[in-house]
Amino acid sequence: MDLGLSGKVALITASSGGIGMNVAKRLASEGADVVLLARSAEKLETLAATFRDEYGVRALPVVGSMLETSDHDRLFAAIKDEFGRLDIAIVNTGRPPSPLRSALDETDRSRWHQSYDTLLSCVIEITQRAHPLMSANSWGRMIAITSASVHLAMPHHALSTVFRAGVEAYMKHLSSEIGKDGITVNCVAPALIDSSHREAAVSYSPEQTARRREMSAMKRLGTHEELASVVTFLASVPAGFVTGESIRVDGGMVTAALHR
Ligand SMILES: NC(=O)c1ccc[n+]([C@@H]2O[C@H](COP(=O)([O-])OP(=O)(O)OC[C@H]3O[C@@H](n4cnc5c(N)ncnc54)[C@H](OP(=O)(O)O)[C@@H]3O)[C@@H](O)[C@H]2O)c1
Repeated sequence: MDLGLSGKVALITASSGGIGMNVAKRLASEGADVVLLARSAEKLETLAATFRDEYGVRALPVVGSMLETSDHDRLFAAIKDEFGRLDIAIVNTGRPPSPLRSALDETDRSRWHQSYDTLLSCVIEITQRAHPLMSANSWGRMIAITSASVHLAMPHHALSTVFRAGVEAYMKHLSSEIGKDGITVNCVAPALIDSSHREAAVSYSPEQTARRREMSAMKRLGTHEELASVVTFLASVPAGFVTGESIRVDGGMVTAALHR
């Protein structure tokens, strides 16, 4: 299937590693020009060079934080300067404050505020800035990466889930407001994606990894490629009549738990 992504310009935020990087790689492999945003300058430069060499696309690295409005200004100024257009926005974010705790133990207001800034507020800001560039061409794709925990109260995930539920609600509102501009708006809600790329201090122990495998109907973890494929399809031309949805990529974890 031709995804029609060649020559499209895609912004992928929080894209120096993990999910964001893998989605950027997949979009570039389909011929999309990519704009990368994250704080690690060296990683972004290396990735952009790799995408140019391997896929022959244009790749613009912008070093900055999702949490800084002035960085959003620079990001969108750079997109306008370099491409003069934006077709796709994959709005991925950093993680909520660690460690996650049970809801009643989350008594530190600053962690709630930090989580709001990290997971929800920046999604609103990026999509608001992306909208005029997409509506100018009567075509666009906005996709927020959330979490399957929005659909299942997972232990210790309140701090994460509350604001991602907000993202899902916001994206649904947006889908009904801007569909008329030719823009689709969706969420992809992952869980149980293999995070072994992360350093040991913030990664799962072997016991936790075994428990995570058990939670999926498939009895395995998902790969970044599987997640990136779903995001890439939603970003594609053939996905033009899918909007206002939240698609779980969780190996059946939520469905299995709800029907146990
Ligand atoms: N992996 C899963 O199974 C899973 C499941 C559900 C939800 N999620 C969510 O999906 C998102 C991505 O997960 P991941 O596994 O890819 O995480 P990750 O491996 O920790 O990568 C996070 C990425 O976000 C960037 N980042 C962090 N803070 C940033 C900021 N303030 N501004 C710009 N970029 C920032 C990091 O780059 P720099 O450090 O260079 O800025 C890095 O590229 C997270 O919100 C995570 O909670 C993941």
